[in-house]
Amino acid sequence: MIAKCKWFCGFLALVMLLVCFPSVLRTFQVPENSSSISIVKDTNDNVDQFDCDPSIIRESLVKLRGNFSLSTGFRKAEKKFRCVESVTFCTHGDASYLENLAVLVMRWRGPVSLSVFASQPFLKKTVSAIDWWRNCAATEEIRNEIRANVTFHLITNASLDELRSAIEEKAINDCLINSEAVAVKKDETVTFYPINIARNVATEEATTKYILNADIELFPSVGFIRQFLNLISHRRNRRHEVFVLPIFEVAASVPAPSVKKELIDLYLRRKAVSFHKFICEWCHRIPELDVWMLVSGASAVMEVFSVVKRRGSQRFWEPIYVATRREPVYDERLGWSGGSDKMMQMFELCAEDYNFNILSNAFLVHKPGIKRRMPDKRIAGASDNNSILVKALIREELLRKYGNDTGCEIVV
Ligand SMILES: *[C@@H]1O[C@H](CO)[C@@H](O)[C@H](O)[C@H]1NC(C)=O
Ligand SMILES: *[C@@H]1O[C@H](CO)[C@@H](O)[C@H](O)[C@H]1NC(C)=O
Ligand SMILES: *[C@@H]1O[C@H](CO)[C@@H](O)[C@H](O)[C@H]1NC(C)=O
Ligand SMILES: *[C@@H]1O[C@H](CO)[C@@H](O)[C@H](O)[C@H]1NC(C)=O
Ligand SMILES: *[C@@H]1O[C@H](CO)[C@@H](O)[C@H](O)[C@H]1NC(C)=O
Ligand SMILES: *[C@@H]1O[C@H](CO)[C@@H](O)[C@H](O)[C@H]1NC(C)=O
Repeated sequence: MIAKCKWFCGFLALVMLLVCFPSVLRTFQVPENSSSISIVKDTNDNVDQFDCDPSIIRESLVKLRGNFSLSTGFRKAEKKFRCVESVTFCTHGDASYLENLAVLVMRWRGPVSLSVFASQPFLKKTVSAIDWWRNCAATEEIRNEIRANVTFHLITNASLDELRSAIEEKAINDCLINSEAVAVKKDETVTFYPINIARNVATEEATTKYILNADIELFPSVGFIRQFLNLISHRRNRRHEVFVLPIFEVAASVPAPSVKKELIDLYLRRKAVSFHKFICEWCHRIPELDVWMLVSGASAVMEVFSVVKRRGSQRFWEPIYVATRREPVYDERLGWSGGSDKMMQMFELCAEDYNFNILSNAFLVHKPGIKRRMPDKRIAGASDNNSILVKALIREELLRKYGNDTGCEIVV
């Protein structure tokens, strides 16, 4: 009975979709290889068999990772989350980015797995700053949210012993210390920020099946977790698919929109634009953005707007998406200042022919301010020349693994 309704309702929805949005019809007509958009058939051998890890406890460990010392879960969320109970926001930053956490947790309202990097001279200050956010942050609601839902990991170039002694120090309980005392500045002398170790650790330490690996300055639309879980519960899970949240930036003079209706309003007033529109538009713009803006404006029901491949016009695309914890990982040899740090992972998703399902009403918005010039990431004496590493080594490895006729780009 229910199965019958599913087919019928699905058919009905499709008819309505075609009637209401002729652009969808267009996508049926374009030859497959000339378009980045295609409607994908549901085949049985593509069904997801994700093994849910029954353990919702992750042990806290201090260990080496590459050239760094790592402490996983050194400050743990009080709540535990089972596999399909929620979605984990996985992110990273040094202590100077922690202020974004206040905005992030109030929007996300669910598990956050956060890797914090601290250079050895900044290690103790960083631990204090984290404890300040957990115990002393501006409002009780923010503190509660951080303690209940955020798990912190620490990555440093200090020795394992130094790391152990720093995290065992007694947490700040004197909140009279004003926030500036713990507002840690960036260590400008860091020559290698291990961005991909930070991303992978945050992912590995999540306990939910689905994760969103994003920058800490990208704020999610409100209500995401509930809407996404609802979408997932009505879908057959397939392998090799991820769920994309379009990214926007807004003028510094307006608050970051929290739901799509507000985003549309800003977009029409030209106060919101696709992320990095003036720097690298095709790195982030979704196909048919103007059509996307017309759908689900007031709806709290999340749907898949379109299914896109990272090919054709989207071949330089660096989307941010919800995925399971099992997709290709980030290459830990690449550092932040070298740029293109996600490109290898994006290449793998392309080579494995992933579907990028664009969500209808969810989005990410960068901390307000529209960038007009490429931010200068270079650091004097930086040791991460990603471009050399990729050209000399990584490109070869990927071609050996996937062959040289994937039609996927490695951009450096
Ligand atoms: C599509 O691919 C076929 C075979 O690879 C090729 O002959 C054809 O020209 C392609 N069409 C377009 C529009 O690129
Ligand atoms: C560790 O650092 C050395 C020297 O900078 C570098 O050659 C090596 O590749 C690094 N190892 C890893 C796993 O990143
Ligand atoms: C923590 O996350 C859960 C699950 O998403 C949510 O219900 C709760 O409101 C969040 N905050 C607190 C303080 O528990
Ligand atoms: C760690 O990195 C910082 C910043 O570059 C540097 O000042 C410090 O000497 C390094 N410490 C160790 C133990 O490598
Ligand atoms: C990195 O390597 C490229 C060549 O692949 C070179 O043009 C660039 O100057 C190098 N950058 C640094 C910081 O060494
Ligand atoms: C692709 O790989 C094949 C076999 O490994 C090789 O013969 C061919 O020259 C390669 N083509 C390019 C463009 O590298």
